[in-house]
Amino acid sequence: MTAPRPAGYPDELTEVALLDDGTAVEFRAIAPDDAPRLERLFWRLSPESLYRRFFTPMTHPRPEMLVRLTTVDYVDRLALVAVVADEVVGVARYDRLAAVAPPGLRVDPGEAEAAVIVEDAWQGRGIATRLLWRLSAAARARGVTAFVAEVLAENRPMMGLLRVLSPDVEVSLSGREYTVRLPLAALRQHPASRPG
Ligand SMILES: CC(C)(COP(=O)(O)OP(=O)(O)OC[C@H]1O[C@@H](n2cnc3c(N)ncnc32)[C@H](O)[C@@H]1OP(=O)(O)O)[C@@H](O)C(=O)NCCC(=O)NCCS
Repeated sequence: MTAPRPAGYPDELTEVALLDDGTAVEFRAIAPDDAPRLERLFWRLSPESLYRRFFTPMTHPRPEMLVRLTTVDYVDRLALVAVVADEVVGVARYDRLAAVAPPGLRVDPGEAEAAVIVEDAWQGRGIATRLLWRLSAAARARGVTAFVAEVLAENRPMMGLLRVLSPDVEVSLSGREYTVRLPLAALRQHPASRPG
């Protein structure tokens, strides 16, 4: 049985879309009762995918991390999940910098840090494109003007994905990482992002 949704849960973001191979995927906002699904996703992810997402070797999330990742306010912090057969196979999220930056640090109030991860077995089927496109639309509706993301220089899939989303992506390289800024005003509508 699904637990009652938390206050402010955006039901309007729930939608079933078909992948090109016909698989039906539910896209919806994350909820606290997704914590066990997220934990199982971590177990299925390869060390390489986890490293590319979290920039540190990791295998298993601590309980407080699962709570932080699944408890959002749906305005300044929002995460969308892709669900197949009641299991989470992908997550995209943004955290508005103003909501997570250390007190006193001046940040652009329109900017949000964004990140995405898709289970290895489900990669290359358009799930991240659909997640990020939907997340961008939701973010714009909540006053976010640009996503910023740190991407490891060797992470070609993520850089490819960002360029698919927008021709206006701004990239700067520092050491082994790209800092990417994705203005949300003129996102390209990728064919895969259309609701199925
Ligand atoms: C990056 C990642 C999220 C992509 O997810 P995905 O569901 O496989 O992405 P999609 O299938 O939607 O692909 C979108 C685009 O990405 C690019 N892409 C995907 N896989 C690629 C690959 N192996 N090489 C180069 N480009 C690739 C393509 O441009 C693709 O567009 P297309 O559909 O027109 O070919 C996934 O590889 C992942 O989870 N990686 C580990 C975590 C990570 O790197 N997160 C980013 C840091 S925030």
